[in-house]
Amino acid sequence: MKKAKLFIDEKEVYEFPVQVDNMKGISLDIRNLRKDTGMITYDPGFGNTGSCQSAVTFLDGEKGILQYRGYAIEDLVEKCDFVEVAFLLVHGSLPNKKERYKYQELLNNHSMIHADMMDFFRGYPDHAHPMSILSAMVVSLSAFYPEIDLDEDPEAQMDLTVTRLLSKMRTIAAFTYRKLNGMDFVNPSYKYSYCANFLNMMFSSPVRDYTPNPVHVKAINKLLILHADHEQNCSTTAVRLIGSSEASLYAAVSAGICALWGPKHGGANQAVIEMLEKIRDDGITVDEAIRKAQDKDDPFKLMGFGHRVYKTYDPRAKIARKLCREVLDDLGKSDELLDIAIDLEQQALKNEYFIERNLYPNIDFYTGIIFRAMGIPTNMYTVMFALGRLPGWIAHYLEWHHDPYEKIGRPRQHYIGPTPKQVVPLEER
Ligand code: SDX
Repeated sequence: MKKAKLFIDEKEVYEFPVQVDNMKGISLDIRNLRKDTGMITYDPGFGNTGSCQSAVTFLDGEKGILQYRGYAIEDLVEKCDFVEVAFLLVHGSLPNKKERYKYQELLNNHSMIHADMMDFFRGYPDHAHPMSILSAMVVSLSAFYPEIDLDEDPEAQMDLTVTRLLSKMRTIAAFTYRKLNGMDFVNPSYKYSYCANFLNMMFSSPVRDYTPNPVHVKAINKLLILHADHEQNCSTTAVRLIGSSEASLYAAVSAGICALWGPKHGGANQAVIEMLEKIRDDGITVDEAIRKAQDKDDPFKLMGFGHRVYKTYDPRAKIARKLCREVLDDLGKSDELLDIAIDLEQQALKNEYFIERNLYPNIDFYTGIIFRAMGIPTNMYTVMFALGRLPGWIAHYLEWHHDPYEKIGRPRQHYIGPTPKQVVPLEER
C-alpha cells in the first residue's frame, strides 16, 4: 500500500494510505483525516471526491469508456435487451436463458399496481409534469407494499421489492402518460416483452388496431440500456445517500427521480428538444446559437453539451446519434430538429470556446429526437431516462445495503457564517 504525506507550511502534518483500484484509479484514503488532524477537505460538487467503493460501473471520462459490470456499453447495446442488462446490474452477472425467462415471468407477475393507486392519478391536473407524478407514485408504493413480513427472509423481501419496482415503475410511467392525455389506462399484458409492454400500455387504442412497432421496441431497448447506469452521478448519489439512512428502496428511488428531473441532469433531454424547437421557431441561426451559448450574460446554454466527467465524446451520445438515423430511416421519417442538432454539433466541435472547455455532446443531445420519432411527448423524455436508470439506482442502493462498512452519508462544511454573538433581549432590540 502506497503512502501520501500532507505538509502545511513545509511541516509534515499527516501521512495516510493511497489506494489503487481495479482500473488503476488512484485515491487518497482520508477516512481518518478529521479524527487524526481535526481537518477536513473541501470539494463543493464532489468533483474530486470518491464517495464509496463500487463494482457496478466503470467510466473513463478522458477516453470515453463506459462499462457495466465489466461489459462495454457498445457490446451490451448490440447483444442484449434491457431486461438482461437490468439483471446484470442488479444481480452482477448476465442471465442465462433460464434466468432470463424466469425474470421476464417475475416482471410480468408484478406489473400491475394496486387498484387504489388509480385514484391518485385522477387527482393530478392535466398540466402536471410526469416526473412529479412518477416520484410521488414510486414512494407511494411503500404504502401498498411495505415488505414488513418479518418472517420472510430479508434478502428474499428485498429481491421482491426490486422486481416489483422494476416492473411497476414502467406501468406507472405509461399510466401517467395516459392520464395526462385524458385516456383510459391500458393494463400490462403477459403477451409482451418489457419494452413492447410499455409501448402497448402507452399507445394501444380501442379505436384502431395497435401492435408495438418492432423498430420502436428495439430502439427503446437500446435507449434504456444506454441510460441504465452511470457511476456516481447526481441522482445515483441521491439514491445512495437516502439509502444510507436505511430508508426504503422506494423512498431512495423517488429521491433519485427528483434529482434526475433537473435540467442540468436528466431533465436536459427535454431541454434539448425545447432548445432545438426555439432555434427553429425563432429563426435563430446555428452560428447565433453557438455565440449565445458562449455569452455569460445570455442564459442560453447548449443543452445536451458538456459533462462533469466526459472530457471527450460521450460514448452513449455516439450510439444515440447512430440510432437516431437508423430509427428515422426505418420509419421513413426525417426531422428538421436532427438536422439542426447535427449542424450545432459540427459548429461547436470546431469552436475554440467548446474545444477549450472539452464540451461535447452528452447522452441527452440526441435521445429526445428518437423518443420524438416514436411519438413520445417531450415532457415524458426524463421519465424515459428514469426508466432506464432504475436498475442502476437499484444496483447502487443494494451495493450500499450489502456493504458492512458503509455508514450514513454525512459530509462536513467550510463555515462562512457569523462568529458567536450574544442575543440582545427583544425589549432592548
Ligand atoms: C447527465 O454525471 C453524470 O454522469 C450525468 C449523466 C448520467 O448519465 O447520469 O451523464 C446525465 O446529466 C448529462 C448532462 C446533461 N446536462 C446538460 O446537457 C446541461 C448542459 N450542460 C451543462 O449544464 C454542464 O455541462 C454540466 C452541468 C453537464 C456539467 O457542468 P460542470 O461539470 O459543473 O461544468 P461547468 O458548469 O463548471 O462548466 C465548465 C465551463 C463553464 O464555463 P467557464 O466558467 O469555464 O467560462 O463550461 C461551460 C461553463 O459555463 N459550459 C457550457 C456548457 N456546459 C458547460 N457552456 C455552454 N453550454 C453548455 N452546455
